[in-house]
Amino acid sequence: MCGIVGYIGQRKAYPILIKGLHRLEYRGYDSAGVALINAEGQLNVYKAKGKVAELEAFSADKDTSGFIGIAHTRWATHGEPNTVNAHPHYSESERLAIIHNGIIENYAVLKAGLQGEGYTFKSDTDTEVLIQLIEYTQENRHVDLKTAVQLALQQVIGAYAIVILDKTHPDTLIAARKGSPLVVGIGQNEYFLASDATPIVEYTDKVIYIEDEEVVSLRIGEDVDITTINNVTKTPEIKRLELSLSQLEKGGYPHFMLKEIFEQPRTLIDSMRGRVNVRQDNIALSGFIDNKERFLNAKRIIITACGTSWHAGLIAMYAIEEFAQIPVEVEYSSEFRYRKPVINRDDVVIAISQSGETADTLAAIQLAKEKGAFIFSICNVVGASIPRVSDSGCYTHVGPEIGVASTKAFTAQVVALTMLALCIGREKGTLSGEQYLRIVRELGQIPDKIERVLGQNKRIADFAKTFTYAQNFIYLGRGYNYPVALEGALKLKEISYIHAEGYPAAEMKHGPIALISQEMPVVVIAPRCGTYEKVVSNIQEIKAREGRVIAIVTEGDEHVSRIADFTIEVPQTEECLTPLLTVIPLQLLAYHIAVVKGCDVDQPRNLAKSVTVE
Ligand code: G6P
Repeated sequence: MCGIVGYIGQRKAYPILIKGLHRLEYRGYDSAGVALINAEGQLNVYKAKGKVAELEAFSADKDTSGFIGIAHTRWATHGEPNTVNAHPHYSESERLAIIHNGIIENYAVLKAGLQGEGYTFKSDTDTEVLIQLIEYTQENRHVDLKTAVQLALQQVIGAYAIVILDKTHPDTLIAARKGSPLVVGIGQNEYFLASDATPIVEYTDKVIYIEDEEVVSLRIGEDVDITTINNVTKTPEIKRLELSLSQLEKGGYPHFMLKEIFEQPRTLIDSMRGRVNVRQDNIALSGFIDNKERFLNAKRIIITACGTSWHAGLIAMYAIEEFAQIPVEVEYSSEFRYRKPVINRDDVVIAISQSGETADTLAAIQLAKEKGAFIFSICNVVGASIPRVSDSGCYTHVGPEIGVASTKAFTAQVVALTMLALCIGREKGTLSGEQYLRIVRELGQIPDKIERVLGQNKRIADFAKTFTYAQNFIYLGRGYNYPVALEGALKLKEISYIHAEGYPAAEMKHGPIALISQEMPVVVIAPRCGTYEKVVSNIQEIKAREGRVIAIVTEGDEHVSRIADFTIEVPQTEECLTPLLTVIPLQLLAYHIAVVKGCDVDQPRNLAKSVTVE
């Protein structure tokens, strides 16, 4: 988390940096700051608690001139979110300033060493330790700044994407990364640096993705210089960016989240394009085709992910076991990486991540790789760290997801994983040709069916108003829709701050039923499929205890409509595809409740979209 941006060139740096910070605000938004070198060679640092708008207000009457600068938007790890802990941080002499995304794990040891040398610290951050270490190294070893950065980073344990300004060299930016993303944009006689390409897109489409343990030096009039922290020279690989400005705007919607919910019919077509053929009778996933044997010989599939992506993984467990008959385990990446898991060479590990940068998932992959497992990743952000370290994979291609609560990325993950399950099952012969064809055909109908569910937005918005009183919600589902219950509850928690629990419907009697009262809204996902009758019995049990039931049912279901307090209909589909329809009203319900409560839907408190720390 944290967003970083840097600029050096012929234009005023400040407006570019501020605009860049707004684009990166999804990565963290508890404080922001900027550092600029003006024409007199002064290094000015301005910081403010809160969002980027606060920083703009604070800097309005300050000297924001200069053609070189760095800026940061923070998601606090070390030290509370206040102005002192906000980035950029100065070195002891105030000659250098740094911005940093990541965590320096051994900062306490390094800090103690520097304090022993007489260094003093203004903030509680690990970042200030790093810039002091760099200055200390430069002064004691009598080396240039790039070498000092290399030497200092050799001592660092942890993750970083950093950019450094030196007021005695106003023509140069030095940056480095390990574990946190960093992109260089190459313009006409100007360079950009950022956590992702979004601050760069309107200026250039030429980018370089910096690799772990690389140090980059950007000097006006010179080519990009990349070395490792051990001073091995690297050849920069310039890539062309495929991102348009319109993808980063709200397109008339009040929030990115609503825009992204409504984009789903189109994004799923994009996810299937070139994979489901035009006759809708076959699926070709190149990441699967090229590595068929690994999947066919797999004794087990381990799925690892966090948050919403983990919920997509749970749905995939049902699909892969049903179609391919391979045992599947679904793991939280954060638990998997630390619990000494048994991983074999013939295991396939599927990592799911919208951002492709989630630190826990990246670490889980690395662990599985070391044990010889084959890594297949499902990612949205092209060129992110996770797809780069994987053996193979499948991009979801839904475009940038900016709302912190994931919506369109989730449905695309489910589609990608379902396509994979169908491919493995078909190839193994565990799925009949007839069933395969039926599901492939039905996948092609899903975008239109989602459109029909979205048609109920107004009804859901009206109805959501009645729930602003609620302190708690329960979400229930079974089979393929149990993970949807978890996802619906997560959406509500994330953006409305209402406590919500997702449960497998039949587990209700083992505890949660004690919570049912007139005050408790219970969302029950009850489409017509295998366990329908049983879920209906659960609804009766809730009504018998005076709970208020919001039911998600298949079109034409009069039975549940009679007993539930409110029903939302979704079109009939194959059971394995029902999550793609049932999740839509839950996304809309959470959205509208949060809006009525006046919550910051796109940037909920304490959260960040891309979690690049443990
Ligand atoms: C954060 C986001 C969630 C997301 C999770 C995993 O917590 O707020 O929306 O599901 O990270 O992110 P990933 O990018 O790996 O899917």
